[in-house]
Amino acid sequence: MVDALREELADLTASVRAFLEWHAMTGADGLPGDPSALHEALGASSSEGGPAAARRADRGFAGLDAPAPAAPRGAAGAAFAPAAQRSAASPAHPEQRAAALASPPHPEQRAAEAQPPRAPVQPPRAPEPSPRPAVSAAAASRAEPAARALAAAQPESPEERSARLSLIAEEVRTCQKCPLHEGRTHTVFSRGDPLSEIVFVGEGPGAEEDQQGEPFVGPAGQLLDKMIAAMGYHRDGVYICNIVKCRPPKNRKPEPAEMAACSPYLASQLALIKPKVIVALGATAVQGLIGTTEGITKLRGTWKLYKGSIPIMPTFHPAYLLRQPGAKREVWSDLKEVMRHLGKSAPDRG
Ligand code: URA
Repeated sequence: MVDALREELADLTASVRAFLEWHAMTGADGLPGDPSALHEALGASSSEGGPAAARRADRGFAGLDAPAPAAPRGAAGAAFAPAAQRSAASPAHPEQRAAALASPPHPEQRAAEAQPPRAPVQPPRAPEPSPRPAVSAAAASRAEPAARALAAAQPESPEERSARLSLIAEEVRTCQKCPLHEGRTHTVFSRGDPLSEIVFVGEGPGAEEDQQGEPFVGPAGQLLDKMIAAMGYHRDGVYICNIVKCRPPKNRKPEPAEMAACSPYLASQLALIKPKVIVALGATAVQGLIGTTEGITKLRGTWKLYKGSIPIMPTFHPAYLLRQPGAKREVWSDLKEVMRHLGKSAPDRG
């Protein structure tokens, strides 16, 4: 009995903390005073909220159309708060502070910073076919035979899927198809759940990822975890990978030839996982997936298609958000669009 109450209290505390942090992320400056307005805001998705809901969203109630996710027990709260607010409330993560000061900007920052963030989010649109191929025919024909064969045969069971992904990861571990292998400490294949309905694709490993052999474990990864939690998922409940599996020197953007050399691996991963949605983090991710070289400021918030079948939502890279916290509002809007597509207009509780 006491244990049950304690558990309930822990759930409640986690939910309240997640709600407050997530509320701060959306830029809201307090709860609506009128309880009926709160009720309306909670029930109104942007597609059905009408002008009143739109006005509330303009006032900063945008995040309220989805209740905060209950953080899994033991997990950090679902904070996805602007750095300015975080640092006002609590000291920034030391790793993050050090990285902001010391490390060269991640390539995504270069691209996104070149253009000011676009203010309005595109209205919801149905996924549209991309006019460009996902990878060049030449690159596809260079696909490692094992990776191609493994992805082609559809797995019968989750165990089989994991086993095939492990074999591809093994192949990646010894890959020497491009010069990036020369400088790597570890290859970085993926993390998370291969049964996930959603896959996040980044650009390529940074210094910490190269050291640990896992994607998105550095400061950008910590922010990505918060974005994922705000959507109602746990970091280990989604699948996360990159366009290239080895760290480009000095965090430079991968060369087109390096992306092409690595693309069969990503193609195999996606063919096995068959996610319902891909979230492309930054311009390089979109470029690696569908070949476009358009800027992320233009691309973000608009559905694309991977290989004519899997919807892609391009959004800003979390490394860019670390430098431009103001762009979190746009990213949150893109992520809510993804949730709507998945029938998750409100993050699950518990
Ligand atoms: N940035 C990326 O694009 N991928 C990582 O794994 C880490 C940082």
